[in-house]
Amino acid sequence: MPLDKFKNNIREYLQDYDGKLFFYWKARVGLYTILKAMGIKEGDEVILPAFTCVVVPNAILYLGATPIYVDVSSDTYNFDIPHIEKVITNRTKVIICQNTYGLSSDLEELTNLAKKHDLFTVEDCTHGFGGTYNGIPNGLSCDAAIYSTQWNKPFSTGIGGLLVTNNKELADKVTDLCSKLMPPTWKELLNLKLLFFVKRYLINNYTYWPLVNFYRWLSHNTNIVGSSTSEEITSLEIPEDYFKAFSDVQAKEGLRNISKLGDDIKKRKENALLYTKFLKEKKKNHVPEDLFSNHSFLKYPLLVKNREEFMKLATTARIALGEWFVSPLHPVEGDLSLWKFNSNDFPMAKYLSKHVVNLPTTPSNIDRVFHFLEKHSDFIIDSP
Ligand SMILES: Cc1ncc(COP(=O)(O)O)c(C=O)c1O
Repeated sequence: MPLDKFKNNIREYLQDYDGKLFFYWKARVGLYTILKAMGIKEGDEVILPAFTCVVVPNAILYLGATPIYVDVSSDTYNFDIPHIEKVITNRTKVIICQNTYGLSSDLEELTNLAKKHDLFTVEDCTHGFGGTYNGIPNGLSCDAAIYSTQWNKPFSTGIGGLLVTNNKELADKVTDLCSKLMPPTWKELLNLKLLFFVKRYLINNYTYWPLVNFYRWLSHNTNIVGSSTSEEITSLEIPEDYFKAFSDVQAKEGLRNISKLGDDIKKRKENALLYTKFLKEKKKNHVPEDLFSNHSFLKYPLLVKNREEFMKLATTARIALGEWFVSPLHPVEGDLSLWKFNSNDFPMAKYLSKHVVNLPTTPSNIDRVFHFLEKHSDFIIDSP
């Protein structure tokens, strides 16, 4: 069975993790499930970073609870942990922290704070599979964690995600909830297979941007399998087919891709070191060297002055820069009040989402990226 083999490979990467693993059509479904298993309901508050993907507050809001955002730090792109205590109330039940771009943050401080207030912790580790924090695999320091295996994540199953928890009581509740997952339709699975083919055989330096933009358009305007449906970015109604299971089609793709993960992570770390060295020498912003490594560096964040122009130049130069997160609740731009978010309350998240791009950490030729950065270094914001 592909799923059993896939599970074994994942356990190995998580240092022979022997707790429960649950798989979903998308990681957000795992987040929703664990919050439900934690008993989150109307009137409860869930703390999360003010620099995330909109599907994270969605999972909270679908349960009738209230997202309480905390501003983030420009070092870790996760929240400033000392700020959390100020927003804890007797309605707070969970803290969701986030491994952003594959950067670890001080989870020891966070889990101690959660223990002090008797709160659950969930690590949104959608970017962080494969790194460690204090020698512990990312995702295993909290009560539970989700990992995404969507296209651009540490290893891909096309779309997909998983949930881990070492807490037996929570795992039993999740097992019960998962019995209600609906299977993907044959159309969705066919769609996925077609997308695997396109990714494997048609994507190259020349076709990357046109195909990625076309895919984004299709996923917002048609029924093609995509990252987020238009409902998820315009309303708080839980989509009818949200609670969906993982499939063997995804497990097979995952098996193929996880076999390359070791080499990819090694390369990501080497390239991240090179980026840091280059940026530091030029006195430009860079990931601090003394953070809570060992980061997995899915991407390398960089702050630039005129992102729109910089992205245009990158597209022309055929450099695959990323744009997470173009908004504090990516990808929704503009008015975020539906998600109970006021950008003015979170100045750092607002600033970062205006200026951040991310550099590829496994490019086929990193020299081309350096050449591009050198040529356009005026765009790069100086070190603080
Ligand atoms: C920070 C963050 N959390 C959660 C998710 C959701 O992952 P998925 O698309 O697998 O549901 C994403 C998606 O990219 C993300 O960036």
